[in-house]
Amino acid sequence: MGLKPYFYSMNALKEHFLLKPDSTFLNFGSFGATPRPVLEKWQSLQREFEEEPIQFMTVRGPQLLAASRAALAGFLGCDASDVVYVTNPSYAVSIITHSLHLRPGDEVLTTDLEYGACDRAWDHMCQLTGAKLVRVKVPFPYTDHTELVHAMEQHITPMTKLVFMSHITSATALIFPAKEICDLAKKHGILSFIDGAHVPAHIPLDLKTLGADIYTGACHKWMMGPKGTSFLYLAKPLQKIIAPLVVSWGFDPQNPDASDFVMRHEVQGTRDITGFITIPTCIDFMQQHQWTTVSAQCKELVHANAARFSALCQTPMTAAADGRYTGQMYSMQIRCKEPMQLQRHLYEQHHIEIPVMQLGDRVFIRYSINAFNSATDLDKLYTALETIINKGIYIHA
Ligand SMILES: Cc1ncc(COP(=O)(O)O)c(C=O)c1O
Repeated sequence: MGLKPYFYSMNALKEHFLLKPDSTFLNFGSFGATPRPVLEKWQSLQREFEEEPIQFMTVRGPQLLAASRAALAGFLGCDASDVVYVTNPSYAVSIITHSLHLRPGDEVLTTDLEYGACDRAWDHMCQLTGAKLVRVKVPFPYTDHTELVHAMEQHITPMTKLVFMSHITSATALIFPAKEICDLAKKHGILSFIDGAHVPAHIPLDLKTLGADIYTGACHKWMMGPKGTSFLYLAKPLQKIIAPLVVSWGFDPQNPDASDFVMRHEVQGTRDITGFITIPTCIDFMQQHQWTTVSAQCKELVHANAARFSALCQTPMTAAADGRYTGQMYSMQIRCKEPMQLQRHLYEQHHIEIPVMQLGDRVFIRYSINAFNSATDLDKLYTALETIINKGIYIHA
């Protein structure tokens, strides 16, 4: 009964988004969606930039960027000098893979459910250096954090240099025990790197309490920032060791006005920083619209529907959908040999935007719920999948 008022306010929030009304948008998880006030702020900053390019590049831009970084740090629970803006989490991962100076025989510990782009970055660096990427098989269906922590610990050897793990996985949409993994890494004297691409504004995050050595997250997903806004956090002892991918004027700066770490990573030659500067507007938007409540409501909707979708697809539930392991996304396994065609079919024939993802030899379909969605969207998905299953095309139940 307590649900209704939130649903009404969620419907009212729809008007803030530019998403086309004739399409059912269940793929917020991939690139988010930016609300009008943030988009307008971004566009006004771009205009300002064009009106006075030199002033914006040299004076006003850096000032606004510093203020934005401070607001982001407040949101993430870290010091403003411990975090820098980067374009995307892939970029942050490559910064780290290039700075670690892995040697033959070194090991990087990760899981078999990592995001493909990040997995490729680690694989590439391990191949270049002769290091080994150890992918721990995550117990599936996922029923218990301790099982995963135990499995990870069993694979730590004297050669393990770093553990890399998603905080929320991509294809399977699982919340992983990031804090326990950071504690485990500390106990064994290895570095922890948590990929929190999906985390900020999705589940609670406090970087100081978490204790990760390295953390990256996207601002263009659940924080609703413009595409290409993300961050890299480094614990203080690492800030001198980790070099940026692009060396520019921020190295040995002539007029340092921020920490070495910030200067090195954020002063990168000519580029458009206006997206990064909109982040305080994203935070304001979320505060104005009680985003914690909105997010809780979305999670209820996600969880209330999970079991019926897994039943429809006749596959085990990916995880118990009760908030311990899943947030605003649920991903169900399907028996499908043509994931890309199914995704196209759902969009073209049913006007549903939803990702169908191959992960090793398994295929998952993942729905995301945000402020503009309603129970009707999931009903449409259910009916579409039911039709597809009944026709015996793409999904074989
Ligand atoms: C878990 C995870 N890590 C990293 C990324 C990388 O994001 P990007 O492609 O923006 O670098 C994603 C993107 O969806 C992701 O889901």
